[in-house]
Amino acid sequence: MKFMLTALLANALMMTAAPAQDALHRFEVVGDAIPSSLTGAPGDPARGRAIVLKRENTCLLCHSGPFPDERFQGDLSPSLAGAGARWSEGQLRLRLVDASRLNPATIMPSYYRVDGLTRVAPAWRGKPILTAEQIEDVVAYLATLRE
Ligand code: HEC
Repeated sequence: MKFMLTALLANALMMTAAPAQDALHRFEVVGDAIPSSLTGAPGDPARGRAIVLKRENTCLLCHSGPFPDERFQGDLSPSLAGAGARWSEGQLRLRLVDASRLNPATIMPSYYRVDGLTRVAPAWRGKPILTAEQIEDVVAYLATLRE
């Protein structure tokens, strides 16, 4: 009985641990970009805009952008206006996934990384800040910011 309980518990633990391990889709970095969509499909710009504006995702703590209705916008970083003209989708994707690969001293969070983070509360360990789908939505939205 005791053995069965242990086995059941171990099983339950493995089941909760498993999604964390394959939480990240594989991706390939080429130069300063991730050329292919993380999900294999294009994102949705309207959903991406909502993600950028959502306070919890903290983009606007650091960035400003073409958001006339947002009263508080950051000035620690380049404005997001024109980001789609300055960068290709692949370059935008790598900047969101892990900006520290381009600038090890950056203050921008790595939105799609689980390893190497030391100050993560237990509930968030093993989970990226944004899902692959959300990254693609934000890439699709930023690509529309041409001026
Ligand atoms: C804590 C501050 C911070 C947060 C939060 C942050 N960024 Fe950044 N971001 C930066 C800084 C600083 C740079 C400039 C490059 C560098 O230092 O890495 C940057 C660069 C960028 C760039 C390239 C800008 C350019 O045109 O040169 C994009 C696009 C971008 N961030 C998008 C986002 C999005 C979208 C979010 C939210 C999902 C976000 N950032 C959250 C600080 C931040």
